[in-house]
Amino acid sequence: MLKKLLDWLDERTHVKDLYREQMIDYKVPKNLTFPYVFGVLALITFVIQIVSGVILIMYYKPVMAHAFDSANYTIMKEISFGWLFRHIHAAGANFFLAIVYLHMFTGIYYNAYKKPRELVWIVGWVIYFTLLTTALTGYLLPWGQLSYWGTVVTTEIPASLADAPILKGIFTAIGETISIWMKGGYKLEDLALGRFFGLHVLLLPLILLGLVSIHLFLVRAAGISNPEGYEIDKKSESEKLAPFHPYITLKEGAIAMWYLALFFFFVFFNMSHFLPADNFEPADPLKTPPHIAPEWYLLGFYEVFRSIPSKFWGFVAFNLILILLLLLPVLDFSPLKSARRRPLFFVMFLVFLFSSMILTVLGTMAPTPTNAQLGMFFTFLVFLFFLSLPVISFLEWGWYRARGGKS
Ligand code: HEM
Repeated sequence: MLKKLLDWLDERTHVKDLYREQMIDYKVPKNLTFPYVFGVLALITFVIQIVSGVILIMYYKPVMAHAFDSANYTIMKEISFGWLFRHIHAAGANFFLAIVYLHMFTGIYYNAYKKPRELVWIVGWVIYFTLLTTALTGYLLPWGQLSYWGTVVTTEIPASLADAPILKGIFTAIGETISIWMKGGYKLEDLALGRFFGLHVLLLPLILLGLVSIHLFLVRAAGISNPEGYEIDKKSESEKLAPFHPYITLKEGAIAMWYLALFFFFVFFNMSHFLPADNFEPADPLKTPPHIAPEWYLLGFYEVFRSIPSKFWGFVAFNLILILLLLLPVLDFSPLKSARRRPLFFVMFLVFLFSSMILTVLGTMAPTPTNAQLGMFFTFLVFLFFLSLPVISFLEWGWYRARGGKS
């Protein structure tokens, strides 16, 4: 009976052909390493966020008078399993960004931003930027003390342009305009909450959905990179490729199970990191909490911003890091790919990885003069990574040519 129904469907949709084309005829390198799973884990987390978010919207109220109660009373106490969906969504936001960071470092390590995958990288970068904005807008919605003051600090950052050494008047006006535009006025009130809500639940997820679809289309078009850094010829080296199903589906599916186990361990037993106690106090514009810092995924940028003595240059520096990340395909023009085959690049990659991690840790600490100096030193190392890429590329071109074009 079921077979008859499926055959009837297939006759009309040709879904079996589509399945064969996309899952079995689609081939990937056999030697993909563990970190290649992060793309799939990001996809799973994206679905988790959409499903849990849709359930939360049914009960959340985006007005100052009710936002806090709807999140912390209606959802957490009145609705059956409302707490579970809030836990899933809050943990999911953190897991999503952690996985995306791991996915980005994997792309950098294997140089997956290089030809023919430049567009995959560029669209990925836009996804990252959109994701940060989505997290920022969602953070305000529970209208707790941390939500409120965290957003106040973030929306004040553009005002630091007033510290500009030249054209002070123009920069001050630009900074203030951006800051007021982000807040919807001089204070965070209903207007900002409504706008953040609209962006967080509708516009940004739609944009993300579109961007992720383009990203996956581009990954398919360019093919997944090879950890060894060379492009596999589909015709003459077919023995190095394996069908996506069952090879990848089983291998990455098993890892995804472990990931979900870890995720739900946090959801059920360890939520204090993702829903901190301070945020169970309603927003009070007259009472500044003692420790206000952005969420962990922004701490590295925050540390770059605050460790540089001039607010203007701090602002320029962290924006420049974002731009340099986008420009990786241009900065690294070496003919060689993958840190496995590029010792100089490997060393600089480690410098970048550890500096980013240390800046994140420093961002959690008190702003003492020693910490500010350490912050500046590791900011310098991050820039050194980007600046070293053209030099390494130049040297590697020399070696490449000396070996007759063989890497
Ligand atoms: C919602 C977020 C994202 C999702 C769901 C996603 C999904 C994926 C998937 C499924 C793959 C193929 C498998 C793999 O190589 O892991 C992939 C590849 C890739 N992604 Fe993403 N991605 C996301 C964000 C990003 C970001 C933020 C960047 C970089 C800024 C990025 C850059 C890349 C690159 C360069 C590849 C090619 C990897 C290779 O061929 O080795 N992605 N992505």
